Amino acid sequence: QVQALQGMETGALKLAAVTTAKYIAPPMLSAFCKAHPNIDVHFTVGNREQIAGRFKQNRDDVYIFSQPPEDVNIEATAFMDNKLVVIAPGDYNGPDYCTLHDLAGEKFLLRENGSGTRKAVDEYCTRQGFSFRDPMIIESNEAIRLSVASGLGLAILSEHTLAQSATDNIRVLNVQDFPICNSWYVVTRKNRPLSLTALAFKQSLLERIQ
Ligand code: PGA
Repeated sequence: QVQALQGMETGALKLAAVTTAKYIAPPMLSAFCKAHPNIDVHFTVGNREQIAGRFKQNRDDVYIFSQPPEDVNIEATAFMDNKLVVIAPGDYNGPDYCTLHDLAGEKFLLRENGSGTRKAVDEYCTRQGFSFRDPMIIESNEAIRLSVASGLGLAILSEHTLAQSATDNIRVLNVQDFPICNSWYVVTRKNRPLSLTALAFKQSLLERIQ
């Protein structure tokens, strides 16, 4: 990494991350920009489908996905855990220490089709033969979190989305098989030569591998 950084004083970094990764990317970006203050950064956030579209069009240098797209040109390395948990309002008094099937009577707030979180939830439900009864679709992790805190229903979100919610009225339920354990991947294209800046940023993420 030291070699990669030599001579790297200015440069540009185009970073694109799925919406759930916006909770983990800013501290990493901040540390990188403090070490390299003259870097020109463009940071794009969208759901999995939107960011996979940008990957396909070769628009950015570095991507962060939990579920990297399938592509022959992809280079993906896991660097951090991403755990999906079942959350409920603080005053929830329905089933806990249970299976998802035991929660079949509850209202669930789900992310939209195209979301990686939703894809992971759908894949788990398909494996379990479970379907949500009349779910509400909300296209934002924050809006889901705040809606759960307001008593609108239950949800399955990455625990990263809860990190800033110490004052929220939310509790994590103990549901069999949860948390669903995924990883965060740093993703680049094999056929896109990386600038020293992009390479150094990618390296800074990989250094976080526990
Ligand atoms: P998303 O991202 O739900 O914001 O699309 C999370 C993921 O890809 O796992």
